[in-house]
Amino acid sequence: MIPDEKRVLKIFAGNSNKDLAEEICKYLDVPLGQADVSRFPDGEIKVKIKESVRGEDVFIIQSTCPPTNEYLMELLIIIDALKRASAGRITAVIPYYGYARQERKTQPREPITAKLVANLLVSAGANRVLTMDLHAGQIQGFFDIPVDQLEAVSILSNYFKEKDLDKIVVVSPDVGGTARAREFSGRIKKPIAIIDKYRSSFDDVEIMHIVGKVKGKTAIIVDDIIDTAGSIIKGSQALLNAGVKEVYICATHPVFAGPAKERIEKSFHDGLFKEVVVTNTIPVNEDKILPGIKVLSVAEIFAEAINRIHNNLSISSLFKRNGI
Ligand code: R5P
Repeated sequence: MIPDEKRVLKIFAGNSNKDLAEEICKYLDVPLGQADVSRFPDGEIKVKIKESVRGEDVFIIQSTCPPTNEYLMELLIIIDALKRASAGRITAVIPYYGYARQERKTQPREPITAKLVANLLVSAGANRVLTMDLHAGQIQGFFDIPVDQLEAVSILSNYFKEKDLDKIVVVSPDVGGTARAREFSGRIKKPIAIIDKYRSSFDDVEIMHIVGKVKGKTAIIVDDIIDTAGSIIKGSQALLNAGVKEVYICATHPVFAGPAKERIEKSFHDGLFKEVVVTNTIPVNEDKILPGIKVLSVAEIFAEAINRIHNNLSISSLFKRNGI
């Protein structure tokens, strides 16, 4: 058995976000582990780890973004391969944790997929999880293994600090996102407003009220996910109707599913918002990028967290207001 302090740090990646994995490896000055993650002719996932991991400290970088089922299954199978290859410790690094929005039953006979995925990861052999901005913080408690949750708020708020916009109000697009918006507003020392959003269907939202003073201000909507872009569009419309001067959007996870790209393109065209700022927890490929969308990298904060976990150091300094 290799003692903890002698375990070598090894990083592998599935196919969901290879660019981010390469960037993290660059910061850490370690090569990306050799592995083939491909498909059998029938579509089943084929994994071959091409170097020894026996006894080592292994991290797998994989966002469970669309195609979510494919990437989740890749992650589970890579963990299984590493476990069977006798890795000393396996950390699933999941910059975007999919299936998180079903984290409780809101109606009878619904699943709790965030818990199901947690069970699957642990059953496959994950010993720890490192993630960012879970849709709901309580998902950490769905695991009986350590979970470290990073926050993109430092990266996003620093970007807006440097922009030096006039008369800012930070807006939560729904009541559930208030804590996130409050943290953001605390960092840039600006007031907060809250939108009371009602979801009439999975891809349509209605705005009920805006709580807080927004008239004549520059609004920054802070969300965790942009999926179909319905929330940010309805939110921007409501804010402009309430007398906001201009709207900026920022969100950690650019899922950009279904009509999102067309909706965002039209919104820029209609002058609904000035800029959409997201991170690369999910790749924003050529087919999704537009002028006006700014992508900030989370590689450094993930690299630092991996380094600290590997060396048994505290990662709490990564959350300090003047930290990264
Ligand atoms: C909802 O609770 C989330 O925080 C996001 O606001 C939501 O997932 C965004 O989805 P969409 O872009 O489809 O409105």
